[in-house]
Amino acid sequence: MAGLTHYADKVSVVTGASSGIGSEMARQLAEKGARVALVARRADRLEALAAEIGRKGGTASAHACDVSDRDAVTRCAERIREAHGRIDLLVNTAGYVRHVLFKDHDLEDIERMIKTNYLGTVYWIKQALPLMRARGAGWILNFSSFAGLVPQPDEAAYTATKAAVSALSDAIACEFEPIGIHVMCVYPVMVQTEMFSREVMDRMPRDSGKRFMSADRFVAETLRGLERGDRHLVIPRRYRGVVILRTLFPKLIGRKVASVRLDALTDVES
Ligand SMILES: NC(=O)c1ccc[n+]([C@@H]2O[C@H](COP(=O)([O-])OP(=O)(O)OC[C@H]3O[C@@H](n4cnc5c(N)ncnc54)[C@H](OP(=O)(O)O)[C@@H]3O)[C@@H](O)[C@H]2O)c1
Repeated sequence: MAGLTHYADKVSVVTGASSGIGSEMARQLAEKGARVALVARRADRLEALAAEIGRKGGTASAHACDVSDRDAVTRCAERIREAHGRIDLLVNTAGYVRHVLFKDHDLEDIERMIKTNYLGTVYWIKQALPLMRARGAGWILNFSSFAGLVPQPDEAAYTATKAAVSALSDAIACEFEPIGIHVMCVYPVMVQTEMFSREVMDRMPRDSGKRFMSADRFVAETLRGLERGDRHLVIPRRYRGVVILRTLFPKLIGRKVASVRLDALTDVES
C-alpha cells in the first residue's frame, strides 16, 4: 500500500485534537487540504481550533466525544459519516499518562487508561474500517510511545496500554494491507505538550526537559513517514538504537532504565 501523498479533500478524523500533538496534526493536515474532524472531550477547545483552521482557509469540524465510551464513539463516527460519507485517514492520538508507581496506581485509573489509550483506538478503528473497506483505501495512524517499546517504570500501566497499541498496529497492518488500508504506528519519545505537566516533570530525571521536541516538528516528521508508507516510526530517529539494544539485551537496558527513572523518586522504599 502506498503512502499518503495527496491530502486534498481527504476526510481525516483526529482524536485527541484538543491539545498537543493532535491539535498540531489537525492544523498541518488542514494546511495540506484535508477536511479534518476534530475529536476530544473539551468541546470549547475543538470549536476554537476549528475556527482557527477556518480563518486560515481550511475545513474542520468539532466533535465532542469521550473515546473510552464505545457508544459515544459509535454516535460520533455516525455523525462524521453522515457529514462526509467516508473516512480516509484516522489518526488515533487521544491518550493520557500518569506517572505513578504500580503499587500506588489505583485500579479505577488503570481501567480508565486501558479504555482510553487502547480500547479508544480499537473503537475508532472498528468504526472507520467498514468505510475504508468499502472504498478499498484508507490510512490509520496509531499513537504508541517509546515506552511501548522500552517499558518504563513509574508509568507501568501506561507502558502496557502503549505496547497493546503497538501489537495491535503490527497485526492489523498485515491483515489490512491486502485490502488497501495502510497502518502506521508512531513512537514519540518526548514532545513538548500538556502531557508533561509540572507533576509529571517532577517525577522525571533531572535534565529531561532538554530532550523535548516541538509538536510542529514532530508532526511534520510523522507526516513524512506516512507519505513514505512507513509502518513504524520512532521520533527522534536516534532512539531506534535503544529499541534494538532492548530487544537484544532486555536485562541490561531494563537495569539502565530503572537506574535513571527510579532513583530520584522519594516514594521508592529502600
Ligand atoms: N508528548 C509526548 O512526548 C508523547 C510521548 C509518547 C506518546 N505520546 C502519545 O501521543 C498522544 C498525544 O499526546 P500529547 O502529548 O499530545 O498529550 P496531550 O497534549 O495531553 O493531549 C492528549 C489529547 O488526548 C485527549 N484525550 C485524553 N483522554 C481522552 C478521552 N477519554 N476521550 C477523548 N480524548 C481524550 C485530550 O483531549 P480532552 O482532554 O479534551 O479529551 C487531548 O486532546 C497520546 O496518545 C500520548 O500517549 C506522547
